[in-house]
Amino acid sequence: MSKKIYLYGNWKMNNTYSETEKFFAEFEGAYAPYKNDANLEVGIFAPFTSLWPLSQGAQKCGIVYGAQNVYYEPKGAFTGEISIPMLQEYKVTHIILGHSERRHIFLESDEVIAKKTKAVLDAGMIPVFCYGETLEERESGNTFSVMERQLKSVLNGLTSAEVEKIIYAYEPVWAIGTGKTATPDQAEEVCGWSRKLIGDDKVVILYGGSVKGSNAKELLSMKDIDGALVGGASLKPASFLEIYAAYKG
Ligand code: PGA
Repeated sequence: MSKKIYLYGNWKMNNTYSETEKFFAEFEGAYAPYKNDANLEVGIFAPFTSLWPLSQGAQKCGIVYGAQNVYYEPKGAFTGEISIPMLQEYKVTHIILGHSERRHIFLESDEVIAKKTKAVLDAGMIPVFCYGETLEERESGNTFSVMERQLKSVLNGLTSAEVEKIIYAYEPVWAIGTGKTATPDQAEEVCGWSRKLIGDDKVVILYGGSVKGSNAKELLSMKDIDGALVGGASLKPASFLEIYAAYKG
């Protein structure tokens, strides 16, 4: 039996409200051939201001959708932040947390990311938890100690049911938006290692970092890689869906 593939698109700070409407006008037709494929789960993560057209388009197509961040407090004096109840009114089910751009540009700590993850789980939603090492950390031989710290800080104190609900996304920072992809063996090594550290064979682990049609088959065929978290190539329906088409061959 072939495995289920998760194809998740992280739009980052791209696609305005009207651009999101245009995306779905095109996506609906492009996605039609895959719509009933039980081995594919597509998800799109848009900026907050595009959540309304995203929710409409995604519900019509029957795909998963979500936000790229959230604050852990339910309300209050937190200028510029968005809460979980705010996202729930858009029927958001999934939220990306701990993305390397949040960690490195906006200086989010392991502690804050862990609090956000717990709040999302408590709300019955699914965190898409990102982790990964920088080039400097890899070159200095610290890949696994960095990731162990990142993973343990979020897993600490969770029940096994909660641990299993999280979708994990290994994204080496040096491969994000750089055109440099981890080799399938490098990605598999970390995803397999992560599965052991998490201690649960059933967890879903994605790889992210310059995934596109031309490298998808090799990456997604690896045993411990359940799917892809895609940035740049997710911005257009054709380049996004091409990733799954390439895997299927
Ligand atoms: P990329 O981004 O596919 O553009 O490298 C991946 C990500 O940051 O999730």
